[in-house]
Amino acid sequence: MTRTRQILFASRPRGMPTPDNFRFVETVLPPLRDGQILIKSLFLSVDPYMRGRMNEGKSYIEPFVLNEPIPAGGVGEVVESKHERFAPGDLVVGLIHWADYTLSNGEGLSKLPAIMAPIASAALGVAGMPGLTAYFGLLDIGRPRAGETVVVSGAAGAVGSVVGQIAKMQGCRVIGIAGGKDKCSYLQNELSFDATINYKDGDIRTSLDAACPNGVDVYFDNVGGDITDAVVERINFGARIVICGQISAYNLDRQDVGPRLFTYLLKNSALAKGFIVNDYRERFGEAITALSGWVMEGKLKYREHVVQGLENTVDAFLGLFRGDNIGKIVVKV
Ligand SMILES: NC(=O)c1ccc[n+]([C@@H]2O[C@H](COP(=O)([O-])OP(=O)(O)OC[C@H]3O[C@@H](n4cnc5c(N)ncnc54)[C@H](OP(=O)(O)O)[C@@H]3O)[C@@H](O)[C@H]2O)c1
Repeated sequence: MTRTRQILFASRPRGMPTPDNFRFVETVLPPLRDGQILIKSLFLSVDPYMRGRMNEGKSYIEPFVLNEPIPAGGVGEVVESKHERFAPGDLVVGLIHWADYTLSNGEGLSKLPAIMAPIASAALGVAGMPGLTAYFGLLDIGRPRAGETVVVSGAAGAVGSVVGQIAKMQGCRVIGIAGGKDKCSYLQNELSFDATINYKDGDIRTSLDAACPNGVDVYFDNVGGDITDAVVERINFGARIVICGQISAYNLDRQDVGPRLFTYLLKNSALAKGFIVNDYRERFGEAITALSGWVMEGKLKYREHVVQGLENTVDAFLGLFRGDNIGKIVVKV
């Protein structure tokens, strides 16, 4: 029997979530049954898609269940096992709970390769789900070619910072849009973006005209809303728009209505395609090898925004919508 703290899903938010939508409890987990493992959390992930799981209704993933622990990406250590695939001491990555300990049947979990152990939290970021999202969205849908202009919104975050660096590796001119001076100087000075736009300062359309004098060939959209309207107004013939995320809309009570953008697609024979990273599940191995290889070679840099302590997980999650982070937010338990 193991004592654990857990964060339960307490109520469905309207608009921006608050701490009241979660409940912190202490409980005792039942003894392990055959086929189960007990995992001690090391790092927990907070991700924007989790906001969607707080709503009821049809989506590509089931809504969170009220009064149940919140399932999330995490890295943990197996401390007890009655499962043939896992042994005590194994590090695992995949779905666990926002909790100190998770009882699992192993579904959705894989062993963390030994080479990743010293940088285990990267399995939640640059070499994990956000990195995979950047890799497939940019290379498979964006298909950037050397010399083209690539614009990425949410550029200083977990996905965006990887997108920009992979686009640079393809020989593109890369413009990052982010909310704040520090984020922009990080992108330009440390990640070698060619130009950046702080969308919280000045008129985004004027800034885009200055940063993209030759228009936009690839737009990797993490945010939606007015930023996206402004970029799409500037696409070139044959442009590709990668619809990865719409974080500006996740907390809206009512659908945001903007200009009708299809005319820009039509006039420019452009492609706009949404995707979910799991569409590429069959090819995850290829991407993890590429991403972790680039990290080891120093070609792909990353920062993490590390929040200490399970008790601060909810605030870390809310921080995604305040724009607290440069790079991936992880909670160190
Ligand atoms: N399609 C997929 O399979 C998939 C997979 C992973 C992630 N995503 C999506 O990709 C996007 C980025 O995810 P991430 O994990 O890398 O998060 P992230 O970028 O690390 O963190 C979220 C960032 O979004 C920005 N933001 C928050 N509210 C905003 C608003 N109203 N307008 C503009 N920007 C806002 C903030 O940066 P600023 O300070 O710059 O505003 C914040 O730091 C999200 O939309 C997410 O849902 C999609």
